[in-house]
Amino acid sequence: MCGIVGYIGKDNAKDVIIDGLKKLEYRGYDSAGIAVVRNGKLEIKKHVGGIANLENLIGDDPMTSHIGIGHTRWATHGAPSDLNAHPHSNEDETIAIIHNGIIENYQELKQELIEKHNIKFKSETDTEVIAQLIGVIYKEKKDLLESVFAAEEKMRGAYAIVAVAQDEPDKIVAVRKDAPLIVGLGKGSNFIASDIPALLKYVKEIYLIENNETVLATADEVKIFDENRNEIKREVFHVTWDADSAEKEGFEHFMLKEIYEQPKGLSETLNRRLDETGKINLEGITLTKEQIENFSKIYIVACGTAYHAGLVGKYIIEQLVKIPVEVDVASEFRYRNPLVDENTLFIAISQSGETLDTLAALREAKSKGARVLSVVNVVGSSVARESDDVFYTWAGPEIAVASTKAYTTQLMCMYMLALYMGLEKGTITREFYDRFIKDLQGIPAKLETFLKKAPEIEEEAKQLYNREQVFFIGRGLDSAVSYEGSLKLKEISYINSFAIAAGELKHGTIALMEPGTLVIALACQDFLYEKMVSNIQEIKARGAYVMAVAKEGNVSIEAQSDRMIYIPECRDEIAPLISVVPLQLFAYYVAKERGCNIDKPKNLAKSVTVE
Ligand code: AGP
Repeated sequence: MCGIVGYIGKDNAKDVIIDGLKKLEYRGYDSAGIAVVRNGKLEIKKHVGGIANLENLIGDDPMTSHIGIGHTRWATHGAPSDLNAHPHSNEDETIAIIHNGIIENYQELKQELIEKHNIKFKSETDTEVIAQLIGVIYKEKKDLLESVFAAEEKMRGAYAIVAVAQDEPDKIVAVRKDAPLIVGLGKGSNFIASDIPALLKYVKEIYLIENNETVLATADEVKIFDENRNEIKREVFHVTWDADSAEKEGFEHFMLKEIYEQPKGLSETLNRRLDETGKINLEGITLTKEQIENFSKIYIVACGTAYHAGLVGKYIIEQLVKIPVEVDVASEFRYRNPLVDENTLFIAISQSGETLDTLAALREAKSKGARVLSVVNVVGSSVARESDDVFYTWAGPEIAVASTKAYTTQLMCMYMLALYMGLEKGTITREFYDRFIKDLQGIPAKLETFLKKAPEIEEEAKQLYNREQVFFIGRGLDSAVSYEGSLKLKEISYINSFAIAAGELKHGTIALMEPGTLVIALACQDFLYEKMVSNIQEIKARGAYVMAVAKEGNVSIEAQSDRMIYIPECRDEIAPLISVVPLQLFAYYVAKERGCNIDKPKNLAKSVTVE
């Protein structure tokens, strides 16, 4: 998610903008930039890296101006670099824009601008396409608002855009379509931002801009237009948050905010890659039918939560693509002289893209001839750069150390990869493929419904937070999810939690069952449901206290369990996308009851860049 700040008014724009961008640093970014109109001339300064790099570039130059826009970039198209940083401008640098989101049809627009207007692009970004498009239209219309209106007619995607024009230094134009945008109402000044922290120091009264609305802001006036270009009135929203809670958008912790961002992350990761026929378009990824047919083995290698996503990936890829999949933790893979050759597909999964063990394992596989595809959340990260292909999880920056939305979007990538390869290889029919995708598309709404049950899970956590040992059990995909649930609990509440395949309990671990031992049992795989009910009976016979997670309608398990959490009905294969969420919430609320540092647990780092 990029950070956006625009300013027009009596103060020096550069100072207000840099200050606002710093308030958005928590969102994670890889480059920053600013544009102002000074003495009738548009000036742009931008730099890869942190805002400090931008400030060094600006130096002592006050960049005196009463209008400007600034941006912190979270790369989606084009690696982090000075050239790809925002703001972007049209060819004669008379218009500058900043952008958050993705323009889905930027390739065709770019081609049209090259062919019809001989535009020479400087960057790899979709954002520059917007700037050039507005620039071409502006030559004819000579009006920034009308030019933005006209450009919008041609663009497809999700975006928030802010534009300034050298020849109209008294106005800022902004557009919102599926990416956040707000307007801060000052006295003799007005502000535009992607979210509240950027302008909280200056204003408490804001307009919340709705989808398909356009803003025209001058120093003294703000106009809002609906999608039919009719001016509309908007209620003023009075901000009551302080700066810290504003960064978390009202949530107490980043982890909770990111748990609630999962429906959106899943929807974006899936839907933005479906073409008009509903087929998955793995843009930029080369996986031909011939390559897929030649793969004799697939490795999925990762660490921690990403490894747990790989366990789900193994199951679904083997079922849909009929190629043997081996999942390994990177720290083991790299030292066991793995059997890898040119007929191996090596899939690295990494939220940060900087985990050293995963990077080293990737290099080992590459040195042995494997084709390397990585599933990564950070554009331009080391793992991404060293892979043959990258499948980005569009989860947005994940700030909390405990991974949540990255995990579920990694799962989504596994499902999409399995469907894509299965259809290419002919191991699944188009009818199965279409049905499966429809079912995936239904998950975000089911997740939104389930999240309304969070207070129930908070209540469970309040009863159970003082346990010193917790077991997680499941079978099949539920087993993979139970490992993730256990890691969540242990890493933020410091409880000694333990996950084991339910069928394996009787081979030793059941000796640990004492009266009152807390066991969280996942029973979300219909075909294994009865087996799980038997497992629960076994441990109940030894006095365990069981909190079961099952699909709505499977009520027989209730008689065997002390507590029940029901998730919305869905097909077995994609149940992990939902069944992990009660475990994330349980871990969160237990850690909260225990007074732990949830977003920054002791001894942990967000990215482990050492051995
Ligand atoms: C997960 O909650 C942990 N933060 C940790 O296990 C993490 O998943 C692991 O270090 C891998 O990180 P990566 O996905 O950035 O490679």
